[in-house]
Amino acid sequence: MLGARCLLRAVRFCSSVPCPRHKPSAKLSVRDTLGAQNMSGERVTVQGWVRSVRSQKEVLFLHVNDGSSLESLQVVADSSLDSRELTFGSSVEVQGQLVKSPSKGQNVELKAENIKVIGNCDAKTFPIRYKERHPLEYLRQYPHLRCRTNILGSILRIRSEATAAIHSFFKDSGFVHIHTPIITSNDCEGAGELFQLHAAGKIKVPEENFFNVPAYLTVSGQLHLEVMSGAFTQVFTFGPTFRAENSQSRRHLAEFYMIEAEISFVDSLQDLMQVMEKLFKATTMMVLSNCPEDVKLCYKFIAPGQKIRTYAEKQLFNWGIDLQTEHEKYLVKHCGNIPVFVINYPLALKPFYMRDNEDGPQHTVAAVDLLVPGVGELFGGGLREERYHFLEERLARSRLTEVYQWYLDLRRFGSVPHGGFGMGFERYLQCILGVDNIKDVIPFPRFPHSCLL
Ligand code: 4AD
Ligand code: MG
Repeated sequence: MLGARCLLRAVRFCSSVPCPRHKPSAKLSVRDTLGAQNMSGERVTVQGWVRSVRSQKEVLFLHVNDGSSLESLQVVADSSLDSRELTFGSSVEVQGQLVKSPSKGQNVELKAENIKVIGNCDAKTFPIRYKERHPLEYLRQYPHLRCRTNILGSILRIRSEATAAIHSFFKDSGFVHIHTPIITSNDCEGAGELFQLHAAGKIKVPEENFFNVPAYLTVSGQLHLEVMSGAFTQVFTFGPTFRAENSQSRRHLAEFYMIEAEISFVDSLQDLMQVMEKLFKATTMMVLSNCPEDVKLCYKFIAPGQKIRTYAEKQLFNWGIDLQTEHEKYLVKHCGNIPVFVINYPLALKPFYMRDNEDGPQHTVAAVDLLVPGVGELFGGGLREERYHFLEERLARSRLTEVYQWYLDLRRFGSVPHGGFGMGFERYLQCILGVDNIKDVIPFPRFPHSCLL
């Protein structure tokens, strides 16, 4: 095993790349070429896909995009160049000089010396048409190609940026990142919306169950985070979750990503709501400042008339019936179309882990949901029942005592008041970008009757 010092030396000094004798032209991303300050005719190589071709008398203009930015790089070539293979969608490698562009709206352009077509694209049969703005619904038929459009490119870059922003929010706030398992033997939410796992093919385990117990894809990492919150006061996880809900709605997926946090020594919903609010604000601010062009495109093409609102808080007390989408919409509208916290739900509607408010005939638990315009429920969370006897009674009533012995143990050994929440990542993206259908903010949507690719 390498000691820490050896490891550091190895990282610093070992390289598998031989030193070139002649300096090759620098390979740059489109984003880097567009941001180049010093254009002294440096020779560079750019690789990407052709987004447009325009031939004029003496020059040929190409736009090349490599996914690093919404904007493409303008390439200017001599019209004598054989351009037959340079079609919309083909992949190319361009070598040339980066120069200041005389054209309006761009800082630099690439004066091509050599253009190599790496892969042809038959524009006639390519489902994405040149210069056409395809509806998102049309593009959904082509999950293997739609990332090549401007709009999906922007959404997926924003998704990547938001992922990084969420991680940095938690890191800056002192949370420890926990990889909670994808395969689990518990149904955290108790709603029975589980995908069960079976070994496929030749691997037949005599007892039928590979793990000896029924195993499922996780619906939430909460219970595993609660384990960790017995040792770390602030933890979070950000991973895929799975629900076998038979819903084709525009806000449900069978596989979605969830950001979940769990905080120890917390005994008020206010404290939890503050973290939820800060997470939403910090992530959104970072997305807005790091990819303004992509966000602008979404607002131009997807959500005309909508505005990103600063986060505001209102509290409503509601009990008696479970909130349906229509109720959620009404509440948000009633409060002036701003995000709304709904707290203290009836005990009968919520899972066994919610903390009993002991409040007489209404009998509520300390649960909190955040409802947002256009989407409905974005966050779900609450205080957890940390009192052994309360939890024991709830589990017994649901006949879950045996399977949740380990969960009861957490209340026997150094239990603390704690709480947490989960935010649906795709719903978050829908909310900030005004995307109507959740299937358009995830690269490969999974929902009932559809698992393309
Ligand atoms: O409200 P939920 O079910 O809460 C939990 O799973 C808690 N255990 C989380 C926690 O406290 N750690 O789900 C949390 C959020 C919802 O508010 C919603 O945004 C999203 O996950 N969500 C879905 N997103 C897309 N498709 C689905 N089928 C979703 N189900 C829930
Ligand atoms: Mg919920």
